[in-house]
Amino acid sequence: MSPVVTIRLVLTVLLGAAVAGQAPPGHPELGAKSVSSQTSPSGNGRKTGGPGGYVGDDKCRSCHSDMFETFHQTAHYLTSRLPSADSIHGKFTPGENLLQTSNPVIFFRMDANDKGFFQTAVIGKAPHTTLHTERFDLVIGSGRKGQTYLFWKGDQLFELPVSYWAFAGHWTDSPGYRDGFINFNRLVLPRCLGCHATYFESLSPPGNRYNHSNYVLGISCETCHGGGREHITRRSAKSEPESGQAIVNPARLSRDRQMDLCALCHAGAGVQLNRAFIYTPGEPLDKYLELPSADPDPQIDVHGNQVELLKKSRCFQSSAMTCLTCHDVHLPQRDLAAFSQRCIACHKVESCGLYPKAGRQIAGNCIDCHMPNDESRLVVVSGSDGGQAKLRVRNHWIKVYPILPAR
Ligand code: HEC
Ligand code: HEC
Ligand code: HEC
Ligand code: HEC
Ligand code: HEC
Ligand code: HEC
Ligand code: HEC
Repeated sequence: MSPVVTIRLVLTVLLGAAVAGQAPPGHPELGAKSVSSQTSPSGNGRKTGGPGGYVGDDKCRSCHSDMFETFHQTAHYLTSRLPSADSIHGKFTPGENLLQTSNPVIFFRMDANDKGFFQTAVIGKAPHTTLHTERFDLVIGSGRKGQTYLFWKGDQLFELPVSYWAFAGHWTDSPGYRDGFINFNRLVLPRCLGCHATYFESLSPPGNRYNHSNYVLGISCETCHGGGREHITRRSAKSEPESGQAIVNPARLSRDRQMDLCALCHAGAGVQLNRAFIYTPGEPLDKYLELPSADPDPQIDVHGNQVELLKKSRCFQSSAMTCLTCHDVHLPQRDLAAFSQRCIACHKVESCGLYPKAGRQIAGNCIDCHMPNDESRLVVVSGSDGGQAKLRVRNHWIKVYPILPAR
């Protein structure tokens, strides 16, 4: 495949909101940065998979417009973005923009102004304070559970010390940073971005160096379908019907390869055996990644391990079930009653052991009893009221659980 260079206006596909002018005004650097080019395939390391090379979501829009619209509302697409009032879920309003620490002379302040969004560590008591400020440069996480923010120092990417937890509703220490200390030194390695973005060109060493100008945020169509150039060429020439597979349709893959596609990001971090961003859907994943063996009692953070848990279920073991049995990744799915319909495709309502007692009222409610939204043991103490908030993760081990009082 001959390398073809595509210039791609990342800004236009990043977010309707960003395009609509939510990006901080008057900050030329941010503006410039949001317009980057995507080079493909060989040369800079992006192996695009599938014939034809990477083209970007916008190119799919004209023919798959419904999918384009709904997909761009999903957590996959929104999982990494440039900073804006819309993309950052933590609050900058006075009073809500502080994170106190266990150290009485250290706190963090979050500021939004016409130059951008900033985190400042404040050490000491006024008027004798020392400040360390860094910019919010990238937002990781759709915000359904939480967000972590990154900043550039030259071409190195670091994690900011303050994150946002949606379940607690406020700012909090970033994972891996010790409360009461000031550090801005956690490196962001390729595996992290490999799960949360479409493309970053690694310039390691050190492991957190990236090309500043050609990254693509969000998970995009071609993350799961492989490069689309050849598919578009063939489909555009209307007289020539598509012969052979010019683009990966995961529905046509074997069960194992379907599971591999989701396991790339939903089976824990594992050990990377190859560079990030080069896995092509349809290939065996074990050449790229050594996945952790199942932890019988995992400490769940924002990262559940849906693959491992699902594989423990008798449903999975005794049928051809995959992630796609229940999920359509092209749209946001929030309706638990609709998910229950998926159960009823294989089970009769009457086969639930509770049916004789409870009757048909259980029909739309299979999920809460058999896939409970479990509390993780990760506890966040809410600031002023001292209340506790716990993250909840949907347990993908489908089985009979002890019935708990209604939550
Ligand atoms: C010029 C129109 C056109 C463009 C642009 C286009 N497609 Fe398609 N695509 C089609 C048509 C027509 C089909 C066959 C009917 C269908 O499945 O909707 C199709 C089918 C597909 C399939 C199923 C293939 C199969 O073998 O079952 C996938 C996956 C797909 N497109 C993804 C994409 C992606 C991703 C992009 C952007 C990179 C894209 N398409 C851009 C017209 C297009
Ligand atoms: C390149 C990595 C990647 C791949 C491949 C991937 N996912 Fe995800 N998925 C993510 C990330 C990251 C999130 C969390 C996004 C967020 O909330 O910031 C996510 C979230 C989800 C969600 C939750 C959506 C919501 O609205 O809360 C579902 C469901 C899901 N993925 C299913 C799948 C399935 C099924 C597959 C396989 C077909 C798959 N994913 C493949 C990375 C991936
Ligand atoms: C193995 C792939 C993988 C790696 C590595 C990974 N994540 Fe995630 N992350 C996910 C998936 C998948 C989710 C969706 C939550 C789930 O699994 O239930 C998620 C969720 C999140 C969320 C919460 C998003 C939301 O609102 O729901 C944040 C924040 C996050 N990740 C940040 C990071 C950061 C920062 C790194 C690297 C330092 C990282 N993750 C590394 C796959 C990954
Ligand atoms: C997280 C992975 C993932 C992403 C991202 C993704 N898809 Fe898909 N796509 C799938 C899977 C899995 C299937 C097969 C199962 C199904 O139909 O849901 C599929 C099937 C399709 C099909 C054929 C099925 C049909 O209903 O015609 C088309 C066309 C398609 N995708 C287009 C797109 C486009 C366009 C985008 C971006 C706007 C996109 N996909 C983003 C995973 C993904
Ligand atoms: C693709 C088909 C399929 C789907 C979809 C499915 N199951 Fe199953 N499930 C099975 C099979 C097959 C078994 C094993 C039955 C047996 O061995 O007698 C099973 C077993 C079970 C069991 C017994 C588990 C145990 O450990 O004994 C429960 C409970 C269950 N399913 C509930 C559900 C619920 C709730 C859903 C929806 C969230 C669901 N299933 C979706 C096929 C499916
Ligand atoms: C039997 C049906 C079923 C299957 C199969 C299934 N899921 Fe889910 N999944 C659900 C339900 C139900 C939810 C909860 C949706 C909600 O609460 O909004 C969910 C939620 C999720 C979430 C959001 C996690 C959270 O804690 O909110 C992710 C990520 C996800 N699924 C990934 C996967 C992956 C990856 C696979 C394959 C390994 C998979 N799912 C297989 C039913 C299923
Ligand atoms: C209020 C909670 C609750 C709801 C709602 C519920 N179940 Fe159950 N289910 C249970 C309990 C508890 C058992 C075990 C009963 C027993 O062993 O006497 C069970 C047993 C089962 C079993 C048999 C497991 C076995 O092999 O013994 C299946 C299959 C099942 N449920 C499927 C479903 C499906 C499908 C739905 C939705 C239509 C559903 N359940 C709704 C609580 C619930």
